[in-house]
Amino acid sequence: MAGMTLRRMRQDRHVRALAREVELPSDKFIQPLFVVEGLTARTAVPGLAGVHRENADSLARQVEADVAAGITKFLLFGVPGDKRERDFDASYTATQVAALRRRFGADIWLAVDVCLCSSTTHGHCGILDDTREHIANGATVEALAAAAMSYAQAGADCVAPSDMMDGRIGAIRRALDVDGLERVLVMSYAAKFHSGLYGPFRVAADSTPGAGSSLRDRATYQIDPARPADALASAERDAREGADILMVKPGLPYLDVLASLSQALPQPWAVYQTSGEQAALELLAGAGLGDLDRLQLETWTAFRRAGADMIISYAARRARALLGA
Ligand code: PBG
Ligand code: ZN
Repeated sequence: MAGMTLRRMRQDRHVRALAREVELPSDKFIQPLFVVEGLTARTAVPGLAGVHRENADSLARQVEADVAAGITKFLLFGVPGDKRERDFDASYTATQVAALRRRFGADIWLAVDVCLCSSTTHGHCGILDDTREHIANGATVEALAAAAMSYAQAGADCVAPSDMMDGRIGAIRRALDVDGLERVLVMSYAAKFHSGLYGPFRVAADSTPGAGSSLRDRATYQIDPARPADALASAERDAREGADILMVKPGLPYLDVLASLSQALPQPWAVYQTSGEQAALELLAGAGLGDLDRLQLETWTAFRRAGADMIISYAARRARALLGA
């Protein structure tokens, strides 16, 4: 025993609990939801256990079960059947938002993703310009603000633009600063990187970029993984334009960014444990090479340690079960 110093505080679960610096309460989690137009029955999303592409009925049943289990905060992705190049129609998703609000009232907190990639024929997050090699920023921002406005009017508590266009936070905030909508929050995907960890999501949201365009990927609008300074500038801009909540996405490979940005800016910080990150954990556990609950808790603890106030996770239901009320 002689010479033992640091290990004294590790010796049993009681003293470890007392010494713990980072808390992981279950009310910090947001559960993503997908609702897809034209589905006769819900279908599983590949790679993400327990996550489905829902139709209106199955969505209501899912949220009903979630609320009964204490899961109350959601991020909704609406996937319309009708794909266009411009003149988008936000009514499918807005109708889903209104139905959830009517049915669940203040029992749920509902954020709604705002983007165009589930609505465009080519899967890009905006309107292509005449060259079809670039996204037209101004026209895209206008369409995003209109969509955000529809979701807010339908009863969203929060709108979350994930497109990465310039100036969209300001445009959305200005649109929402009218009587009755001034309390709607804007959560900005501010530090969203051009990542390979979005695979299952693109299946769930019909948003794989490239078809019918020479623009094959989202490199011209999402942040280069080698450019943390771009993430800082983007977050500073979005804070200035009125974002209430800022986000880093993906989570685990960008913990350094989360740690430094959450120190630099006082807004609440969200982290998005993306579909690819979640699928990686499930594959590891599924191969018998790790324990899924333990992997989840370790990654979530890392997010909290790095400064995340809230965690968007496909396994938010699991968090509730593991961590309790
Ligand atoms: C696109 C969008 C993406 C995600 C949410 N909205 C990524 C992308 O397709 O580039 C990622 C979510 C995930 O992987 O879980 N607007
Ligand atoms: Zn998009």
